[in-house]
Amino acid sequence: MSVTTTNPLRVGLRQERVIAPQCLVIFGASGDLTHRKLVPALFELFKQRRLPSEFAVLGCARRPWSDEEFRQKMADALGEKVEANRLAWDQFSASLFYEPVDLQKPEDLEKLATRLEEIDRLRATRSNRTFYLSVSPTFYGSGCRALANAGLLSDPKRSRVVIEKPFGRDYGSAQSLNRIVQSCTQENQIFRIDHYLGKETVQNILVLRFANTIFEPIWNRNYISSVQITAAETVGVEERAGYYESSGALRDMVQNHLTQMLAITAMEPPGRFDPEAIRNEKAKVLQAARLADEEEPWNCCIRGQYSPGGTKDAPLLGYRQEPGVDPNSTTETYVATKLFIDNWRWQGVPFYVRTGKRLAKRLSEVVLTFREAPVHLFDAAGGSPTANQLILRIQPDEGADFRFEVKSPGSGMRSRPVDMEFSYDESFGEPSDEGYVRLLADAMLGDPTLFTRNDEVEAAWRLYTPLLELIEDSPWQLPIHPYESRTWGPAAADALLARDGLLWRRP
Ligand code: BG6
Repeated sequence: MSVTTTNPLRVGLRQERVIAPQCLVIFGASGDLTHRKLVPALFELFKQRRLPSEFAVLGCARRPWSDEEFRQKMADALGEKVEANRLAWDQFSASLFYEPVDLQKPEDLEKLATRLEEIDRLRATRSNRTFYLSVSPTFYGSGCRALANAGLLSDPKRSRVVIEKPFGRDYGSAQSLNRIVQSCTQENQIFRIDHYLGKETVQNILVLRFANTIFEPIWNRNYISSVQITAAETVGVEERAGYYESSGALRDMVQNHLTQMLAITAMEPPGRFDPEAIRNEKAKVLQAARLADEEEPWNCCIRGQYSPGGTKDAPLLGYRQEPGVDPNSTTETYVATKLFIDNWRWQGVPFYVRTGKRLAKRLSEVVLTFREAPVHLFDAAGGSPTANQLILRIQPDEGADFRFEVKSPGSGMRSRPVDMEFSYDESFGEPSDEGYVRLLADAMLGDPTLFTRNDEVEAAWRLYTPLLELIEDSPWQLPIHPYESRTWGPAAADALLARDGLLWRRP
């Protein structure tokens, strides 16, 4: 007798899903994100024929651009991508429109409502709207209120709001922002974006864990001795000093991207593959997470800041020398911290999390280190056998490696570690889409699976509250350690692991 079961992974993330006719309204359309990420992602969806023909993008910002100017600016910014696909761009760009809007002015909201009705008639977009807030975070709350007051969020089936990170600056501000946003619209209309969740390799952690039988039985404190989560960048602060000076690496990367990777790695299997079941498990694991030393948080966190580096021919500025940065700035560009998760699965297993700008290599990964064999029967090539490791390569070189000991060729019985590698590129032969392609499509489809829910965001802020308070109240207790550009960060971060007899991975 054969039994057919539904593959639960297919229920939530079906391959072919159809985006309904709609208008995507981008607030902050003159900003960086629009031409660097959003319009390229939409153009990609268009080329993949995943956008309906009844579709429009309405760019909104304060600048008095015309539709034509907006189209031209986007074409200029996309450069080669447009040149290589001229015909497709001409078709796609006919769906781009622009309206000067200041979200703080009620009369502008009235103009916007009228323009949206016009677009509905012109493009048959059926009053179905996704509003994307790519504005300064200080306007997220008032922006939602303005949309609600203009009656643009009243139909929960036809309106959604996408909110960029950062969602709040700390636990308290995230709670108040949640209250405001939820008073304007229902939770299932709110899409809080974290572009790491759009990465194929982050989603793959779920498939790896819950579509294979070999990993889940050992994915716990009995077999895993520690976990390292890294997001290392080679770039510096670039042109974003204004924002970064008041944010720093803890708010910019750790509270969101690294914590989301941690949640996906550590969560319990959901009962079903549906958005709420998954988000329930992520929220639960974040609620069980804590800093390794909440009473004396300086014991479990290192902050750093890049100093000049590079070569004679290609020197690199230090953070304090970057344009727009205070020459005495104490904003961190590097953070390493240690966390525990107080639940049955993870009790006592340290999770080390680190991120930094201007590090030696661009690389994001999750590394699970397994417990050592209880008895060493063989001599190891390097003196002692290496613990097994599962390395999930988030980017670049997307894939995974499994490191284990094998017999070293020769007459003796010495062991040596080797890697078994899986590469997305080799196995699938095509690069994966940028995270924004996936996330924009999901928001327009109304699928919140890969977006963070109110309780998740609050739990993530609560987790780092002792550090944020320390930085605010007595920053000398969490001093800034300078590190040379293009190295692996401050030596103090190595000491954080050395205390536990461990090393950071340096691939
Ligand atoms: C953004 C941060 O959210 O993520 C940036 O604000 C950072 O500072 C970027 O550079 C990193 O994203 P990715 O996808 O390049 O790892």
